[in-house]
Amino acid sequence: MQPVLEMKNISKEFPGVKALDSVQFSVIPGEVHCLIGANGAGKSTLMKILAGVYSKDEGDIFLQGKKVDITGPSQSKELGIATIYQELSLIEHLTVAENIFLGTYMKPRYGIMSWKKINEESSKIITRLGIPIQVQKKVSELSAGHKQIVELAKAIASHAKLIVMDEPSTTLSEKEVNTLYRVIEDLKRQGITIIFISHKLEELFTIGDRVTVLRDGKYVATKKLKEISQDELIELIIGHKVEKKKRETSKRTFQELLRVESLSNHKLSNINLQLGKGEIIGLYGLVGSGRTEVLKALYGVDQIKKGSVFIHGNKQKITKPSKAIQLGMGLVPENRKSEGALLHLSVRENAIVASHGHLSKFTVLLRDKVKDVVSKTISELRVKTPTPDTLMMNLSGGNQQKVIISRWLIHNSEILLFDEPTQGIDVGAKDEIYRVMREVASQGKGIIVVSSEINELLEVCNRILVMYDGKIVGEFDDPQNQKEEILHLAVKGGDNVESSKCRKTPVD
Ligand SMILES: Nc1ncnc2c1ncn2[C@@H]1O[C@H](COP(=O)(O)OP(=O)(O)OP(=O)(O)O)[C@@H](O)[C@H]1O
Ligand SMILES: [Mg+2]
Repeated sequence: MQPVLEMKNISKEFPGVKALDSVQFSVIPGEVHCLIGANGAGKSTLMKILAGVYSKDEGDIFLQGKKVDITGPSQSKELGIATIYQELSLIEHLTVAENIFLGTYMKPRYGIMSWKKINEESSKIITRLGIPIQVQKKVSELSAGHKQIVELAKAIASHAKLIVMDEPSTTLSEKEVNTLYRVIEDLKRQGITIIFISHKLEELFTIGDRVTVLRDGKYVATKKLKEISQDELIELIIGHKVEKKKRETSKRTFQELLRVESLSNHKLSNINLQLGKGEIIGLYGLVGSGRTEVLKALYGVDQIKKGSVFIHGNKQKITKPSKAIQLGMGLVPENRKSEGALLHLSVRENAIVASHGHLSKFTVLLRDKVKDVVSKTISELRVKTPTPDTLMMNLSGGNQQKVIISRWLIHNSEILLFDEPTQGIDVGAKDEIYRVMREVASQGKGIIVVSSEINELLEVCNRILVMYDGKIVGEFDDPQNQKEEILHLAVKGGDNVESSKCRKTPVD
């Protein structure tokens, strides 16, 4: 079958990085073609060349066998290509309908459309997608999932034949993800071709027909997903066999770092928990069960209505994040783009932003000390960046996440709160982050980690607390052998656990 898209020998260099090195990519009509590779492998760059955002240094692009020269985003659109980026491009204060027809409604194909017509047309498209979104609503009022759907509707309105989706499911709830899969199936039936980038292997196997793997800017292979196993795919991504590591369970005496008693607020009721030195505890539950809210309450983002927080046995009132940081807490937030990363600053500045205090002498930053500390930490975490001076926005998504983790390691925070720490992170780097978490814990720090991936929690946690409807409904001390019960409880809920199995804090 003639490919709908062929990219041949594409190369692209950024200062200090060969992002793409003679890459091949061929997509046949009506397939869902997945693009995968470690963080920084070049996936987004390849797609940005297709979208006309970046120009290629070398190589040729063919659409339906015809060589095309894509000189800019509007031309890419004209050619029937729509791209949905990792960071969405909707305009928040405009309505759904306005966003869908933005840039399209002036086209001669439509004449100049009236607002009424714009509303009607966008409503039609949304209805066809089977999602109840009112098109007169402002985009800022929509959930992450619905925004994603509006992006898709926008692509359909522009009569795209080829839709590129760069990690679309990262910020979606399970229900929203299922809707997205359904919509993709639907588009496929209409003959639209989809290029889908994701780090979630299970997802690729669910919706993908074929997969192309990139590694370090180079083409590795294209495979049918039906003909390859998950382990084989991982090997192609990381370039070597996967080693299964053994987890060591350290049974040390419990020394309390953090204790929460009967904490309640607008989302939480009667939360009790204890975190000890060297411990990693997991908070598991469905989206909306209150997991993130526990972290937010501890970190002083959300107000606490009732209850107490003790750090090293001392009762503390944490009303703002700066107080939490001062008390030795660090948060790696769920939504790194909007909450964690300072995209216009360098990697180094991002890494030390919390540590100006102890890296300064008489308020002057100790340059050499900063250099050393940052170089050491980012190399430990294996952050892929040309130099520490590179701007954060030029790093791949996963590497940005690692820089944010390095921030708290440099700050020497004792209590680390991780919210979905490996979202958007490739399989190889995930293992590195788990390794880092274990290492940090073995230095006597305590970690609370929220994740919607149970396997991730089973991989790193000593203990798992299950949340349901703002309450802790179960506590599991041997989580690796209690997976079924944990999953069951997260879905069905149960009684509020009165108090975390209170360990007596031993006196040294
Ligand atoms: N505008 C830019 N300036 C400089 N370097 C860049 C720029 N965009 C990307 N890079 C670099 O090019 C390489 C490929 O990045 P790219 O964003 O394509 O990776 P990716 O495969 O999409 O990774 P991720 O899975 O983390 O999103 C990385 O080393 C990245 O740092
Ligand atoms: Mg990317």
